[in-house]
Amino acid sequence: CLWVRNLTFKKRLPGPFAWPLVGNAMQLGQMPHITFSKLAKKYGNVYQIRLGRNDIVVLNGDAAIRKALIQHSTEFAGRPNFVSFQMISGGRSVTFNNYSKQWRMHRKIAQSTLRAFSMANSQTKRTFEQHVIGEAMDLVQKFLRLSADGRHFNPSHDFTVAAANVICALCFGKRYGHDDPEFRTLLKRVEKFGETVGAGSLVDVMPWLQSFPNPVRSVYQNFKTINEEFFAYVKDKVVQHRDTYDPDVTRDMSDAIIGAIEHGKESTLTKDFVEATVTDLIGAGQDTMSTVMQWMLLLLVKHPSIQTKLQEEIDKTVGRDRLPSIEDRSNLAYLDAFIYETMRFTSFVPVTIPHSTTADVTIEGLHIPKDTVVFINQWSVNHDPQKWHDPHIFNPSRFLDDTGALDKDLTNGVMIFSTGKRRCIGAQIAKVEVFLFSAILLHQCSFESNPSQDLSMDCSYGLTLKPLHYTVTAKLRGKLFGLVS
Ligand code: HEM
Repeated sequence: CLWVRNLTFKKRLPGPFAWPLVGNAMQLGQMPHITFSKLAKKYGNVYQIRLGRNDIVVLNGDAAIRKALIQHSTEFAGRPNFVSFQMISGGRSVTFNNYSKQWRMHRKIAQSTLRAFSMANSQTKRTFEQHVIGEAMDLVQKFLRLSADGRHFNPSHDFTVAAANVICALCFGKRYGHDDPEFRTLLKRVEKFGETVGAGSLVDVMPWLQSFPNPVRSVYQNFKTINEEFFAYVKDKVVQHRDTYDPDVTRDMSDAIIGAIEHGKESTLTKDFVEATVTDLIGAGQDTMSTVMQWMLLLLVKHPSIQTKLQEEIDKTVGRDRLPSIEDRSNLAYLDAFIYETMRFTSFVPVTIPHSTTADVTIEGLHIPKDTVVFINQWSVNHDPQKWHDPHIFNPSRFLDDTGALDKDLTNGVMIFSTGKRRCIGAQIAKVEVFLFSAILLHQCSFESNPSQDLSMDCSYGLTLKPLHYTVTAKLRGKLFGLVS
């Protein structure tokens, strides 16, 4: 009978003993992704932990993760119905909402609009590139000002503003600049977002913590407020667009999203999905982008010989009479290798946004019921000793073949944008942005660490891993491009 078959074929998920009430919460430690990898050694790549009331399946290692997210893509495409997820983008987030027919339509609109304004054809590619180059040159000037008289500065917030400016230029046809105090303050507050939604954050799995006057409660309250403020800020801009909308003139992505959602023939989405989409795109693009740039700069000053080698490659390919452009990418293999190695080595989105199962599913012979929360440990893919030689060593050259060209099989093995139905929709533009920002910064400046500080790779944990506070100084290399020398 079915009952006996289930008993025979469906193995119980392995995993550590879970304590009453808290489950395994106290075992996660400061860096849950490292704990998850250690547990995988004991229990295998697919195992179960318990956090508060939730049984959570943790997926580790390249094979198990790709099998789940690609071969069983629909079954693993859900999001848990966490209370915090409903506070994001007015509860209509494409990123944080569960899998459904409506969600599929929403994601398609967000994805195709983003592509139309960045990669669709040579004209949109050029416009996007110009936005990024403009922001990168603003950053160069800002960094040089902050380095006057040999001073040292922390670059993190300026990276956030630069990344937000790029996406705001696409969404609103307008950037806000480094000196708009309202925008800077808002972004500063949003920087805390990832503390609450990262895998292992406890507010959603132990909701009873909210009823005590404790730090978790204040994180939760704060999260609600910052999301409301950010959403209100974006909504205000979208409403201005709606009031002046002309179906014959698409000024920017907000117009395009209004067109697709409010006037599209097939759209069944209500108009509040417009402001949610724009909020999602602006929110998703800045923290991740700023974090990768912070790591890159830290690694550049930590490895001055790598910085010099990158500058030599750029000078040889680009020369000193023009700025690097996207066309140079195929000739700057070492720079691309450096970017991939930064993503692999730091694995700065160590665990994806939590998933959930949309149906019962069996993986590696283990049965996972519908509506189970799933954590996907990207860090474990990028540090798998079966896959990477000396995974704990930072070595960009690992991505180059004997001829000095980029090894595409190896770069495809890095997992930072996830895969499957929830794969990041900004991966393409993020890679272009990171490439241009770093090529221009390295072409224009040399960076040095602060001798009075230890350069550690220690970081804070959340949806993104961020380096702890560090400072650098920038020196101009030759003339400042675009200004009279
Ligand atoms: C989702 C990484 C930049 C838009 C994600 C996820 C990751 C990720 C790991 C979660 C995937 C999952 O849950 O399985 C990154 C990294 C970036 C980056 C490393 C930069 C280096 C961007 C940018 C945008 C963007 C620039 C848009 C402008 C999104 C959206 C989702 C997402 C909308 C939600 C997808 C969904 O739930 O279906 N990203 N991202 N991301 N990302 Fe990115």
